[in-house]
Amino acid sequence: MSLKEKVDRTKLPKHVAIIMDGNGRWAKKKGNQRIFGHKNGVKAVREAVEGAGEIGVEYLTLYAFSTENWNRPKQEVDALMSLLVSTLNSESGTLMENNVRLRSIGDIAGLPKNVQQNLSEIIKKTEKNTGLTLILALNYSARWEIINAVQNIVAEAKQGDIELDQINNDYFEKHLNTCGFPDPDLLIRTSGEFRISNFLIWQIAYTELYFTEVLWPDFNRDELYKAIIDYQKRERRFGKTSDQIINS
Ligand code: IPE
Ligand code: IPE
Ligand code: MG
Repeated sequence: MSLKEKVDRTKLPKHVAIIMDGNGRWAKKKGNQRIFGHKNGVKAVREAVEGAGEIGVEYLTLYAFSTENWNRPKQEVDALMSLLVSTLNSESGTLMENNVRLRSIGDIAGLPKNVQQNLSEIIKKTEKNTGLTLILALNYSARWEIINAVQNIVAEAKQGDIELDQINNDYFEKHLNTCGFPDPDLLIRTSGEFRISNFLIWQIAYTELYFTEVLWPDFNRDELYKAIIDYQKRERRFGKTSDQIINS
């Protein structure tokens, strides 16, 4: 029985998020430059997108570039930006064929103009697709997202549009970049690092976490299915007791 067949289709995570990490170390192990690792990471992105779409995951969020990643050497940042543009261009046909709807989160206005342009073109082109929603986190920082939400809420309050007691979970979430997307059920991080690195802090309050030693360029459908099978063995209690969950 293949791993794909072992996935229980009645208990799928609706939303899977991935911190794609380990490209640099993968390249170094092979005696290559870090950018070689990023280039090979594109294959793994394709695997994750197709693998998720094939089993019926509805949302896949990929952490592709954090706001902190601007602190890398300029040469690497430039290479990552041009890889992003070339990948968006080369994959747009496949996204259409696979009925994938592309979206983004993060401070998009802070990205180079050509990246912004490419991204918005493909988001527009794929907007009517009804399969997997692929959300790219670009120039993303969870703290930035939260501060941005607070600024917008305070601006509304100053205009007299809201009362204090209207500010609840639902209201706050409407001001996040992820507005309209469900919270991730499963968060995967590759490369053996056990941290969140400023990703989706608000949204992962009750997300199941899965860490793997696999370096991102080696990630594939089977690695995704392994994570989902592991997720399916867990009991999500949301504060309740196990008995309450079993008897509900
Ligand atoms: C993840 O791989 C890709 C990005 C952050 C853009 P890294 O480039 O962080 O690879 P390591 O962690 O240095 O191995
Ligand atoms: C997190 O990976 C960001 C992305 C995967 C885009 P990093 O490699 O930048 O994370 P840290 O700096 O090791 O925490
Ligand atoms: Mg890293």
